[in-house]
Amino acid sequence: MKRGGRFINLFTGLTLAGMVFAMAGCGAGGETQHDSAQTAETADTETAETAEETDAAQEQKTATAQEPQEWEWDAQDEETLRYAFAKAFGGRAGVCVPMAALSDTDRMAIVKDQFNSVTMENEMKPDTLLGNKPVIGEDGFPVLSFTVPDMMLKEIKAYNDTAGRDGRKIMVRGHVLVWHSQTPEWFFHEEYNVDKPYVDKQTMLARMENYIKQVMEHYESEDSEYRGMIYAWDVVNEAVNDTDGGMRTDSSWFRVFYSFDYVEWAFVYANQYAPAHIKLFYNDYNDINPKKADGICKLIEQIKSNPEARIDGMGMQGHYDMNFSDVLFKQSARKYAAVVDEIQITELDLKASTGFDGTDMEEEYQKQADVYKSLYDAVKSLKQEGVPITAIVFWGTDDRHSWLQSANAAGGSADGTRVQCPLLFDKDYQKKPAFWAFVDDSKLEPAAE
Ligand code: GLA
Repeated sequence: MKRGGRFINLFTGLTLAGMVFAMAGCGAGGETQHDSAQTAETADTETAETAEETDAAQEQKTATAQEPQEWEWDAQDEETLRYAFAKAFGGRAGVCVPMAALSDTDRMAIVKDQFNSVTMENEMKPDTLLGNKPVIGEDGFPVLSFTVPDMMLKEIKAYNDTAGRDGRKIMVRGHVLVWHSQTPEWFFHEEYNVDKPYVDKQTMLARMENYIKQVMEHYESEDSEYRGMIYAWDVVNEAVNDTDGGMRTDSSWFRVFYSFDYVEWAFVYANQYAPAHIKLFYNDYNDINPKKADGICKLIEQIKSNPEARIDGMGMQGHYDMNFSDVLFKQSARKYAAVVDEIQITELDLKASTGFDGTDMEEEYQKQADVYKSLYDAVKSLKQEGVPITAIVFWGTDDRHSWLQSANAAGGSADGTRVQCPLLFDKDYQKKPAFWAFVDDSKLEPAAE
């Protein structure tokens, strides 16, 4: 499954980029030592291997080859987000889905009727795959358990088999490989024991590599029934701080590395083990804050300076509020577009207005639709400029199940009294004005002056 060129698996203490350059040079010299017969034989084998690889790549591509602009549609697709997005900016319509939704037929009906991209809310995160207690394999690495995410993937696969057209098939955004949160603390400690010290960098890199390898082997090896379902991975989530765009320090990844090198390595390993058609993303929130956007772009440049790494996209999480600024949004998106090939809005929702107490729901819905419309107009005008936004993913189907409800109840927001209504479907799964802001804005009340 190697895609990004030869990879060096030793930690020598050199800076990462320097080390990779140095080793790549050695490799090139070594190849000139073949005699001519060997060279011919090698060339033949390589041609056969390349042909095989091309076939495999082709086979992989069949699941993903068609671009939204080329999809065919029929009456069943009218008034759906997936159709609206494909037409408006050539991107996917995504939603996050938790395990609990599987037993809720009405909620799953929204997912299948409206969307063609799904992100698992928690089920592909390190704490689900690693579990509470380490199960260590003979090779000394934690053995991952895919039981939970695979239940969801099975359901999506069964739906895809009957979905008919490509535009209706649901592809998966893998979320997330490397993150300071929702990763068991034991993963970072000697003997996987929180009472012991943090491991050294080399040990941590080996753990990271093994983790990413297991994930990719499970989903992308030739005998995986899920092969080809995942079209993007958030390789690293939230490594940059909110104050000056430097390193986030409240993180065990930071406490082991004290540098952004772990981010760079994550993109090296993801490149090594993921097939080429899977897009590799850096993902973060507060993504329209100019300082943070600059910090993220700097980090992306660092990743890109390593020839063994690959980064394709920036995930703007998009947890915004009613003070959303389309001007800042456009500014930041343009910055990201200068350093990566594509941008996705990966976790979109809107916190309710400050002080909103739930009395006038209709008014709040209308305000919210106006904010969503300004964001959508910005996406469409960026697209005209050539800024490639390839998906908008909402962080939930409906208001009842939004994470903001519990974040709010737990005092997670500055204004703990707010009633939250962040999504496109209300608590009874009915379409809100916000839905029409994306699908047919002629159905909206005119925006208040
Ligand atoms: C972050 C993460 C998501 C999710 C949200 C809150 O944005 O990337 O996985 O945990 O917070 O629900």
